[in-house]
Amino acid sequence: EDEEKLAAFQARIDREEKIEPNDWMPAAYRKTLVRQISQHAHSEVVGMLPEGNWVTRAPSLKRKAILLAKIQDEGGHGLYLYSAAETLGVSREELVDQLLTGKAKYSSIFNYPTLNWADVGAVGWLVDGAAIMNQIPLCRCSFGPYSRAMIRICKEESFHQRQGYDLLVAMMKGTAEQQEMVQDAVNRLWWPALMMFGPSDKDSKHSADSMKWKIKRFTNDELRQKFVDATVPQAKVLGISLPDPDLKLNEETGHWEHGEPDWDEFYNTIKGNGICNKQRMKDRIKAHEDGAWVREAAQAYAAKQAAKKSA
Ligand code: ACO
Repeated sequence: EDEEKLAAFQARIDREEKIEPNDWMPAAYRKTLVRQISQHAHSEVVGMLPEGNWVTRAPSLKRKAILLAKIQDEGGHGLYLYSAAETLGVSREELVDQLLTGKAKYSSIFNYPTLNWADVGAVGWLVDGAAIMNQIPLCRCSFGPYSRAMIRICKEESFHQRQGYDLLVAMMKGTAEQQEMVQDAVNRLWWPALMMFGPSDKDSKHSADSMKWKIKRFTNDELRQKFVDATVPQAKVLGISLPDPDLKLNEETGHWEHGEPDWDEFYNTIKGNGICNKQRMKDRIKAHEDGAWVREAAQAYAAKQAAKKSA
């Protein structure tokens, strides 16, 4: 019977039908979605930290307002994504607990520090740029709630990417020192941005299933290549170099060939030993503990309302 159910499920996927929360699905499909969506949600929330570092030091009211809006968007993305994960039968408490106890992963990129103001621009241009490249295809993911959440998220990420590029353009029109800050930020964030796409295809253990189930529409290496192809011309317009001596245009394929990211650094980071992992977790745990009174107040209010209704 299970074989039949599996075949019917795969046929629905192949016909591009959306799978909804109450539909039958293989346990492994549910598990990989909970893993990916919750990792994605955690990334959005932890991703607020490196940028939050600059809110009090933004150089103008306009830049501060943009940065605040963007950080709030990331918090909102986390919330839509936790909601999408909850439709699969896990609770938000459970997921947050997995993050705070170090059981769940979040994107490697957010374990790098933001050392100068140009980093805020480089995060927008490269990190949000990489995020969009990975997330546009997720709007066509086979799981309905995830795919629908991604539509609004991608629109907002597009604003984030542009504000970052705009910030860098402004700095590149500034002093030699400002231009050096941009180059320094890009030198530090380029390779970590490429690592956001995940391990190379030969080492990606979930890709085969996720491609078959149309959770993923492109492999990690395909998306990394698309990102490099889109970004190299933008670097030229900005007037900066990218820190990869192996970058070269292959005239035949039209693609930019690039070097290999340092995979030891990648695995080290996702195991919890990157530059900022410990600080990020410390900050999230503190934020969660400091928010306890809000959760208690919301529950007390809900209990009061329920009591009123039943009275
Ligand atoms: N950072 C942290 N962990 C990663 C990363 C990364 N950049 N890339 C891969 N991993 C983890 C995977 O979660 C998996 O770990 P697990 O088996 O313990 O759960 C392992 O490395 C092996 O990788 P894959 O088999 O390639 O995993 P997967 O098929 O899930 O592909 C990918 C990874 C591309 C990140 C996918 O999960 C995805 O598209 N996620 C949604 C997008 C997302 O999370 N973006 C977050 C950053 S963007 C932002 O927040 C602004």
